[in-house]
Amino acid sequence: MSRNIAVTAALPYANAPIHIGHLIEYLLPDIWVRFQKMNGNRCLYFCADDTHGTPIMLSARKEGIEPEKLIERAHTEHFKDLTEFGIEFDNYYSTHSPENRQFSELIFERLRERGSIVKKTVEQAYCSSCEMFLPDRYITGTCPRCKASDQYGDSCDKCGGTHQATELIEPKCATCGTTPGRKESEHYFFKLADYEKQLKDLIASGYTQKAIANKLDEWFRTGLRDWDISRDGPYFGFKIPGEENKFFYVWLDAPIGYMASMKNYCDRNGLEFEELWNGDKWELYHSIGKDIVYFHALFFPATLIGSGFRPAKKLFVHGFLTVNGEKMSKSKGTSIKAATYLKHLAPEYLRYYFAGKLSGGVDDIDLSLEDFINKVNADLVGKFANLASRSGPMLNKKLDSRLGKLDEEGTKLLDTLIAAKEDIIADYESLNYASAIRRIVSLADEANRFVEQNQPWATIKTDEEKTRTTLTAVINAVKVLAIYLKPVLPVFTEKIEKFLNVGSLSFADIEIKLEDSRINEFERLIGRIEKEKVDAMIEESKQAAVSQPEPQEKFEPIKPECTIDDFMKIDLRIAKVVKAAKVEGADKLLNLKLDIGGVEKNVFAGVAMAYEPDDLVGKTVVCLANLKPRKMKFGVSEAMILAAGEGGKEIFMLGVDEGAKAGQGVH
Ligand code: 2FM
Ligand code: ZN
Repeated sequence: MSRNIAVTAALPYANAPIHIGHLIEYLLPDIWVRFQKMNGNRCLYFCADDTHGTPIMLSARKEGIEPEKLIERAHTEHFKDLTEFGIEFDNYYSTHSPENRQFSELIFERLRERGSIVKKTVEQAYCSSCEMFLPDRYITGTCPRCKASDQYGDSCDKCGGTHQATELIEPKCATCGTTPGRKESEHYFFKLADYEKQLKDLIASGYTQKAIANKLDEWFRTGLRDWDISRDGPYFGFKIPGEENKFFYVWLDAPIGYMASMKNYCDRNGLEFEELWNGDKWELYHSIGKDIVYFHALFFPATLIGSGFRPAKKLFVHGFLTVNGEKMSKSKGTSIKAATYLKHLAPEYLRYYFAGKLSGGVDDIDLSLEDFINKVNADLVGKFANLASRSGPMLNKKLDSRLGKLDEEGTKLLDTLIAAKEDIIADYESLNYASAIRRIVSLADEANRFVEQNQPWATIKTDEEKTRTTLTAVINAVKVLAIYLKPVLPVFTEKIEKFLNVGSLSFADIEIKLEDSRINEFERLIGRIEKEKVDAMIEESKQAAVSQPEPQEKFEPIKPECTIDDFMKIDLRIAKVVKAAKVEGADKLLNLKLDIGGVEKNVFAGVAMAYEPDDLVGKTVVCLANLKPRKMKFGVSEAMILAAGEGGKEIFMLGVDEGAKAGQGVH
């Protein structure tokens, strides 16, 4: 009996482009969904962009755009990249959607009614200049352990240790550099521990792989703590009903995004969401990376149970991608964006390679670039494509593109291939694609041996009909192998379908023999990977890392907004530099005397690395004439000259240098 299945993949965060590490996440279910569809089941694949939270709000602010604009752009890019990799969603939606707001509010209300939500006062880091609470990642300072500077409030990149933001030495707001204070606020908490029994039952029912269940046991033993599901504004997300300035925490509404994507699809396709999510006729599965197990095995199912929704039947948890045995690295060029990969290489190389590595476990998956080139060239090109190219052109050119009948030997070969069907189906079903690929490769070896033994290139000279019989068996082998490979290689197999002159193949077509039929003109299926292309891809990724440093590292963040009234207070004037001198004891400062329309002002400007005093005398500059005089160590600064640049020698004064742009003030 055929099954009804819904599958979700973890929602990519709208703050970053898709890279090849993400592809594991989307490919794993894609292969499974394609397999289910080919195996006679109804199967729908849902995803969306994860669009809320502080990082998105601040990224948009830095770019000077609305968060809505940023997430719209990310959605277009993500969807394009994933589609080009052959990932075929039934719906690719957004968590910033009316459906998601409705479900989030509904779930929150139901949980509140049942007493699963409590309010508590919490004290958190607060930046008085940005007027916002600071998540740990938005506080930087010196690591309390190894004393490395510029570390985040939760962990240290240098020594790998974790810490509390309060432990950082000289903490600073990562956005504006202000030392954060502490401030109290009332938050909503979800009482996770109320659901301990139901969660344990869910895990016992086989909700996750064994390794994950063991990890969950540990978490149960340490005790389930209340979960903070609210955030104070400013925040990009859904406002909590009845609250002025509180929002649902992004991790509350992100998994609810699975429901929103499904609901949106149901409404557009005449289906009942209730039946799909909650009904007995449908099975629901989530695929996730191992870093977000806590959310998907504890928080999300508990909020669902508490609000009358059914948790999924299973979580498929997978490991991370490493490249050449190491964490992906920007400087080594191994943090490769999907879009960069696509410029250099065919997507199906990676689909094939990843499939050969995925075995249903939670271990990390390594992309060894050398192994990648070897495997793809040896197997995909050398065995599968080769089998077709050894039979197709000869049939086209010498045998009128017409197949004959299978003889005993050919039938035996096919029987061997067909006999693997149930094992391969079981492999796909259990997400052990690596095992499926191993079996399929060994069947291709068998078929290639058959070609070697029958030597069609020799027999064609003496016995055309014998050759036709041989090639008929080979073509049938190509068909069976194409069916087996189809969930992994949709484009490659579509070309084979076209060449074999058959419709869309499925597992039900395995036993059907192609005899006495015509094939179409053979077209090359796939070329070899050239090492130069892989090198070029790595080089481009390296260059991108150099030319586009992390925004936090280089980009001067845009400050909190200023009103037109604030702006009107500024009095910019053209001034003439009448005197300029170095300042004893301050390498970076020059002492300037400015003539502003007859009024003389004394200024200390941090431009000594960029300009010699004599070069400035007589020049005109732009200055902020009404700056409140500031007492500095060396005297009083009564105005500010305008300049732009990264600092040091790279400072350009407006008026002095051509091409200088609007910029920051320099005292
Ligand atoms: O870890 C992440 O990248 C999250 N954006 C995954 C969210 S999955 C689901 F909960 F929405
Ligand atoms: Zn700040």
